Parts: sequence; structure tokens; C-alpha cells
Amino acid sequence: MHLAVATEEQKAQRDALTYSEWGKRLTVEGYVSREQRLRAHPWASGMVTWLLCGEDGGVLASCETFRTDSFLRSPDGSLAPGDSFAIASVFTEERLRGHGYATRLMDLLAAEMARQPRAHAALLFSDVGPRLYARSGYHELPAWDWLLSPTPGDPSALVDSLLPEDGLDWALGRLRRPEAPFSFWPTPAQLDWHLERGRIYVDYLPGCSLPVSAGATVGESTAVWGLVGRKDELTVLMLDAHSPEHARALLGAAQREAHRSGLSRVVLWEEPALAPLLPLVEGASRVAREGSLPMVRPLRRDLPLADPLPVPRGLWV
Ligand SMILES: CC(C)(COP(=O)(O)OP(=O)(O)OC[C@H]1O[C@@H](n2cnc3c(N)ncnc32)[C@H](O)[C@@H]1OP(=O)(O)O)[C@@H](O)C(=O)NCCC(=O)NCCS
Repeated sequence: MHLAVATEEQKAQRDALTYSEWGKRLTVEGYVSREQRLRAHPWASGMVTWLLCGEDGGVLASCETFRTDSFLRSPDGSLAPGDSFAIASVFTEERLRGHGYATRLMDLLAAEMARQPRAHAALLFSDVGPRLYARSGYHELPAWDWLLSPTPGDPSALVDSLLPEDGLDWALGRLRRPEAPFSFWPTPAQLDWHLERGRIYVDYLPGCSLPVSAGATVGESTAVWGLVGRKDELTVLMLDAHSPEHARALLGAAQREAHRSGLSRVVLWEEPALAPLLPLVEGASRVAREGSLPMVRPLRRDLPLADPLPVPRGLWV
């Protein structure tokens, strides 16, 4: 068995097979066009589709990788950049499952990624629990969500400003970077890729509209959010709150934006820095996340993995 990079034709062949798994809400044509549109997005310029091939060249399993920025924090506080890889869409056809092909793909891919000169780590978001990926050296991270209901009112009340979609670069520049010795960090293009998913799915969500804002600021604090997939919810992609008051103000604006857009709830991923603040936000409830379990695999032996490592929703692929 060996690893190969998929051609455009092979990607289209995989799309036809993966539709049954990831095409919910979409027609086959809608799914194929979604895949093409997302692959044309600037964030996908660092995307590779990998194939595990048998000796006869037949494809046994596949997945995608997105090159993701990551940083090592030096003792003086400066950040040294490197390359990490977020893995998505791990897939084995039903008739080929249970033969260890996905595991073999993960193992060969890790060896391939570790050969990259600036390699730091691989990151994935498991929808099938931790066991499959733990076999290939991935460590599971905590996965808690905070949920809030939509509330009526002007989203811009009680915050300093609402963020326009073209303000993602500016917003990311305001966010404090994690203190951890190693961390991943999204680019503005990655955040916009999430919004692009929402621009595709909004046509399939009756009664919903695209949120007018992409986040909010209050004082030094910043939130980035959007409609990002097939669920009618406002997803907080990034949140940097300097105080419980700021967390309340920003999430209140998110709740009002969700209401204005006809969305059913606000969802926020818990990160270590947010954990002490969120219990102080009235009406927010904490639930164990279903799916999207973050898992990390170091690609070099000396990678200083903090426990717990911050993984904001904006990093999801
Ligand atoms: C998950 C998947 C890629 C595994 O492919 P595979 O080639 O059969 O994987 P392997 O043979 O290497 O390993 C199979 C293991 O995956 C586990 N697995 C498969 N689907 C699972 C699921 N939905 N939930 C939990 N575990 C699952 C199997 O139980 C088996 O575990 P075991 O060997 O400890 O009993 C394949 O089932 C698939 O394509 N599923 C649909 C798409 C999907 O969910 N992809 C994962 C996204 S994170």
C-alpha cells in the first residue's frame, strides 16, 4: 500500500462516493458544486487530497489536509512559525471498511507530514470518537460546547461595534494569541472559508438569512462568528474576552444576531482561557460536544504540547 496525491479527476470520483456521508441537505449536484466552490476558496490553496492505494492502484481510503499555521513560543515570548496540517474527510468505502485502511492512511500520512522541514503537528476533528485516531498517535483534547438561545433586539446594542465580513483580518489582529508553548492559529482566509460554507448552505435553510455581522468588539475584546454549515446556528469561531462583562456583552450581541438571522441558537467551543468566564454568562449552558472531537499528533518529538491545548472553532476543517 502507498500514499498518492489525488488528481482533479480522482477528487471528483471521491466526491461521488463521499456524498452519502457528507452531502446531507444537498442534492448530488449541490454537493459536487459545494466541493468545487470550497476548493476554489483561497484557504483551500493549501489543501491536498490524499489517497491510500493498493498494489493494483485501486483506492482504498482517502482524506484531505489543509496547511495550518502554528507557532512555538520562545522563552522571551516571541512566536516562531511552523507548519501544521489539519486533516479532514477521512473516508473508506463501506465495502472496504474494517481492514485497517483508514489507520494505514493516517500512519503513512503522519510519516509524510513529519518529513516537511517546518512540521509541527497534525490536527483533526473526529466524528467517530478517539479510538481510531489514537491508534495512529493522536491525543484527544477536551470538547465542551456552550449554548445560548437567540434573543430579540438590536445586535449592536451594548457592544462598541459589529464586525463586517471584510473585517476578519483586523479582528484576528486584535485577538490575544494563546500563552501556550505551542499553538495553532487560523488565518483570515480560513475564517472566511467558514463563512463561505454558510453562504452555500443558507439557500438550504428555510427562514434563515446570512448574519449581517461577522462578529463584534467591546473594549479590547473581540468575537468572530457566522453561519458556517448545514445547521441553523450562529457559530462563534473566535472569542477573546478580557472580562466576564465583555464575554456577556459579546455573546449577548451574538444572541441578538442569531435572532435577527432566524437561527435557532448560538454555539461556542470552550477553550482553556474561556472556561472561567463562561459560567458567569447568564443563560449559557455547557454540554459535551457531539462529534468534532479535537485530536492532535505531534510531528516532531520535542513539541511542547500544553494540556489543555487551545483549539478554537475557527481551526475546524
Ligand atoms: C471511519 C472510517 C474512515 C474508518 O475506516 P476503516 O478503513 O474501516 O478504518 P480501520 O479499519 O482502520 O479502523 C476501523 C475502526 O474504526 C471504527 N469506526 C468506524 N466507524 C466508526 C464510528 N462511526 N464510530 C466509532 N468508531 C468507528 C471501527 O469500529 C474500527 O474500530 P476497531 O478496529 O477498534 O473495532 C470509515 O468507517 C468511514 O469512512 N466512515 C464514514 C466517514 C467517517 O465517518 N469518517 C470519519 C470522519 S472523522
